Amino acid sequence: MKKILFVFGTRPEAIKMAPLIKEFQKYPDKFEVTICVTAQHRQLLDQVLNFFDIKPNYDFNIMKKNQTLFDITTNILDKIHKTLDEVIPDIIFVQGDTTTTFIGALSGYYKKLKVAHIEAGLRSKNKYSPFPEEINRILAGHLSDYHFAPTKNAEKNLLNEGIKKNIFVVGNTVVDALLLGLNNLKEKKEREYIDYFKFIDFSKKIILVTGHRRESFGAPFENICCSLQELANKHKNIEIVYPVHLNPNVREPVMRILKDKSNVHLIEPLDYPYFIWLMNKCYLILTDSGGIQEEAPSLGKPVLVMREVTERIEGINAGTAKLVGTEKEKIIKETSILLTNNEEYKRMSKCTNPYGDGKTSKRIVKLLEHI
Ligand code: UD1
Ligand code: UDP
Repeated sequence: MKKILFVFGTRPEAIKMAPLIKEFQKYPDKFEVTICVTAQHRQLLDQVLNFFDIKPNYDFNIMKKNQTLFDITTNILDKIHKTLDEVIPDIIFVQGDTTTTFIGALSGYYKKLKVAHIEAGLRSKNKYSPFPEEINRILAGHLSDYHFAPTKNAEKNLLNEGIKKNIFVVGNTVVDALLLGLNNLKEKKEREYIDYFKFIDFSKKIILVTGHRRESFGAPFENICCSLQELANKHKNIEIVYPVHLNPNVREPVMRILKDKSNVHLIEPLDYPYFIWLMNKCYLILTDSGGIQEEAPSLGKPVLVMREVTERIEGINAGTAKLVGTEKEKIIKETSILLTNNEEYKRMSKCTNPYGDGKTSKRIVKLLEHI
């Protein structure tokens, strides 16, 4: 019997951990699963926990309004050592590149416990972009004992940094989660979703927008908002739907610049199944999110990535995503091309996903039997 401890705290970690937790829980004779959430996110985390019906054994409830990196780091460190002493896991699982991920790995190392990192090896090679995720994932990688890399490219990044042992290329659990979510959509009637989104005119082209990166706070975020404003003015056949992240640094400029536009819908963060339903219905996606870059190719939706660099280069290479930065002119130009040039739109709408095939969690659990 192996004791597995999952440590996570934000929306994307929860989405990407959920299918793995479910898979481990299928084998109670082999694995004892304990779930510890830092609640670095509160509402956004709870939305996911509810949808996947995951009940944490430990909940640190650390989130504070407009928290700093120092707050998150010290509050998790302060609480986690007691949990590790109580559980004494054989393996701690962390995911991705948040501050919860880094501190989860660090605390495992301090206690000389084994750490497994899923979504290992992503690199932008720019220390400040994404900030602080690039350094979080580098440090989590070096602190971990097992590295579940989503792609060959991620494996190469680890090898280049001298991490040579225990790398397994398994795909990204994000696709497993998406398939679970899509399955759930079939259980609800299409009518329920249409009713939920009744404020949207689906006869128009829907542009789905999200954004939250720390390195974009301030001027870049204002640019993004101004470009959306101009796009809404310029193209009368579009509806922009923007579920706004709860971070106050995001909400302030978004609300100030975009709140009065009739074809821009600023809405609260959506429950995961509603988000993927809308993703499936939209024409294109403008985002700086990591997870959405990985989900969109499964649905054949072009993604314009509003960042200066991305570690998800597989989508760029496959031609399903394009890096457009945070400058107003470029965002407007690239979006307008996709709205008006059918050939270019078709070229980017390929339904092949370089990040996973939906079987990643199964692979990880199989590997764990022999670790
Ligand atoms: C965090 C992660 C980022 C990840 C993102 C996913 C860090 C440093 N950042 O960024 O890597 O891509 O989550 O969304 O690990 N808030 C709420 N309720 C919530 C969530 C957030 O009110 O459920 C507000 C709070 O005021 C909070 C603030 O947003 O203080 C920022 O949250 P935080 O986790 O520090 O940063 P994110 O920008 O969400
Ligand atoms: N998502 C969601 N509701 C929303 C916006 C996003 O459920 O309103 C999901 C999305 O499908 C993806 C994840 O949240 O799986 C991405 O999270 P986020 O953009 O916060 O973080 P990142 O992926 O950039 O770390």
